[in-house]
Amino acid sequence: MFEQVEEYPVDPIMIGADYFAADPRVDKLNLTVGIYQDELGQTPVLKAVKLAEQKLVETQASKSYLALTGDADYCRVLGHEVMGNAYDDGWVSAQTSGGAVALRVMADLLGQMPHPPTVWLQTPTYGNYVPILTAAHAHFAHVPYYDRLKAQITFDQMLDGLKAAKAGDVFLMQGVCHNPTGADMNVEQFNALLDLLEARGIIPWIDLAYLGFAQNWDADCAMARTIAARFPECIVCITLSKSFGIYRDRAGALFVKTRAGDRERMHRAVSAIVRSGASHAPDHGPSVVRTILQDESLKRLWLADLDRMRARVAGVRQQIVATERSLLGTDQLTYIAEQYGMFSLLPLNEAQETALTRDHGIHVVKGGRLNVARLGADGITKLVGAVSEITCAR
Ligand SMILES: Cc1ncc(COP(=O)(O)O)c(C=O)c1O
Repeated sequence: MFEQVEEYPVDPIMIGADYFAADPRVDKLNLTVGIYQDELGQTPVLKAVKLAEQKLVETQASKSYLALTGDADYCRVLGHEVMGNAYDDGWVSAQTSGGAVALRVMADLLGQMPHPPTVWLQTPTYGNYVPILTAAHAHFAHVPYYDRLKAQITFDQMLDGLKAAKAGDVFLMQGVCHNPTGADMNVEQFNALLDLLEARGIIPWIDLAYLGFAQNWDADCAMARTIAARFPECIVCITLSKSFGIYRDRAGALFVKTRAGDRERMHRAVSAIVRSGASHAPDHGPSVVRTILQDESLKRLWLADLDRMRARVAGVRQQIVATERSLLGTDQLTYIAEQYGMFSLLPLNEAQETALTRDHGIHVVKGGRLNVARLGADGITKLVGAVSEITCAR
């Protein structure tokens, strides 16, 4: 019977991991995986997380199931933390297994509507959106977002593309530290985008995965706060994997702002979709997050570590630019210091990207994404030299 199972596309990041493992070179560099690493190449458990875990061990009285939409306290605390005053009773919320399940629950909901809206995606964008929307049978279409050879946001083309959207369609954008480009819209562009969405009746859907990695936690919540305050209907997905360094513990949330008459029905719809998929929210990661956010001293400790992670990532970005200038006297990679978060795209075409791996043992995600947090001083020198050599031969 299983002979009929067809080939499924494998995530390019997983394919990259296999290529990297098979590469025999000792000085190979793996810049593919989307996980933060410190200067020692470690992804340690944050101190605040350890302390919160200890507190949970001592105080947790039961491991019975939570409600289908999780712990209302977690959703309330996180909703207020991220959306500020714009978060109130007007939201349907669910505690989810990371951001991926929040995205999937929403995609299922959209795909199951009698008249499914089109979800408009930026190109390029997070590689898992299309598999999630496809699995949910949701409708989607693309607008251009970024030109990797020019290292620029294609803002006008994005707005132009959105003119084909209908009222009631959805625009899926990211918060700070855009994955995979590292290129975030400036405030004027963001406001112009919201003007267009509002004027055309397009619902904003914002996916927040790197809060705290651009300016600081509070400032990085601004996009979500603006959308939440301005739109009567909007969608916010959050993962805390990166901001709290709790990748495998799966803490995330889905927040949907609805009109009052739709709220109870939406809550039942979200609950039913959770029941038929993830079924119940995992508790450990979200409880750690709630414990930290509700305790002033743990919160200070966590924010200090988040600041350190952000500073390291920004520092590597600056070192890439400084190394290129001092070693080669060129500024091809200057844009990297102007971008945010762990990811940027290298300004390479497909053949050059192949040469980067084949000739230099530098592994990036297909499409040219590198994770700067995986670079130390030697890696930076190697990368800068390799990109220069490859592009000189352009
Ligand atoms: C933009 C974006 N959204 C969502 C996610 C999913 O996060 P999680 O792995 O916590 O589900 C990621 C993870 O890399 C991401 O980069």
